[in-house]
Amino acid sequence: MEIKDKIMYIGVNDRKTDLFEGQFSVPDGISYNSYVIIDEKIAVCDTVDAKFGEEWLKKLKNELGEREPDYLIVHHMEPDHSSSISAFCELYKNAVVVSSKMSFVMMKQFYGLDLAKRQMTVGEGDTLSLGKHTLQFISAPMVHWPEVMMSFDSHSHVLFSADAFGKFGIGGDIEKWDEEASRYYFGIVGKFGAHVQALLKKVDKLKIKTICPLHGPILDKNVSKYIDYYKKWSSYTPDKDGVFIAYSSVYGNTKNAVEYLYECLKQRGVSDIVIRDLARHDIYESVALAFRYKSVVLATTTYNTGIFPCMHTFVSYLAERGFSSERVGIIENGTWAPTCERIIKEMLSKTKTQFLPCKVSILSALNESSREQIQTMADVLAEKK
Ligand code: FEO
Repeated sequence: MEIKDKIMYIGVNDRKTDLFEGQFSVPDGISYNSYVIIDEKIAVCDTVDAKFGEEWLKKLKNELGEREPDYLIVHHMEPDHSSSISAFCELYKNAVVVSSKMSFVMMKQFYGLDLAKRQMTVGEGDTLSLGKHTLQFISAPMVHWPEVMMSFDSHSHVLFSADAFGKFGIGGDIEKWDEEASRYYFGIVGKFGAHVQALLKKVDKLKIKTICPLHGPILDKNVSKYIDYYKKWSSYTPDKDGVFIAYSSVYGNTKNAVEYLYECLKQRGVSDIVIRDLARHDIYESVALAFRYKSVVLATTTYNTGIFPCMHTFVSYLAERGFSSERVGIIENGTWAPTCERIIKEMLSKTKTQFLPCKVSILSALNESSREQIQTMADVLAEKK
């Protein structure tokens, strides 16, 4: 499939993996994208997961016919993109492998590959001419591993963006790109916002018309929209104005409190409210929602002198990723010793998180006092106070 200017898509779709990278659910599968640029010289951009190596090499051969690739460009060494390098090198013995210095170290570590006689090490600003196409390399450390680089083709104005701008899922509605792309971003790259910001400053200087990521759809329309999402996400700026409520509930009393808060918010004109039961919903969807919503409420119970396990995991995921919401409310529930507020604040103490000047403390079940506290929280969230 031609993307443009003799840049062909030769990626594969994985509908078998249940947990990508051993932890991210992928009910709609995931693609491992790969591209080949056909010019006076031929360059293949990245390989695919070895489980799909045969299928990928077949696609590559179909595009090339009798010709052979001159280069394999390795933008990222995580095995979902690199584990077919050995098979490629075995088949195309004259092809030169082009990558960053650190990638070649990783190739040896992962696959025992020593490519000294057929490797080209490139770094920031280096270029590779293929004929009409000239690739300019851009170093992108920690987006999402330290060896990552991207490349920009000045002929077609295509950015080969490695993991950046990728998403889970095969196909789907491009209008809903942000849903799975944000789950991917905050789950996988979210901790490295400063690195993404540094990359985006370099990207801003390029006239990009198409983004070719290593997962998900090729982005060839309204490219600035996707870059703007990344600018917001990497600077920890919410892109949704409403309220996200994450909760856990043992006997339903904390859930009742969440539902009451929902009603109070609706009465006060807040229309965008999303609620997730952390015990039942994908935790990485909730991580993404917590970063994307302007206001976040965490509702949970005391449990084994701590907080309920799924909420504990959730808050630790937020802390790990530099959560920095300016509007976090806490609803705590405990029958004899509510401790959730103290514990959540301790867990987030090394982040820039700011808490609402009100809290809700429930003893076992809602009563008049805790209902009033919820009304006050709703006023603050709705900015009525
Ligand atoms: Fe898709 Fe960081 O690998």
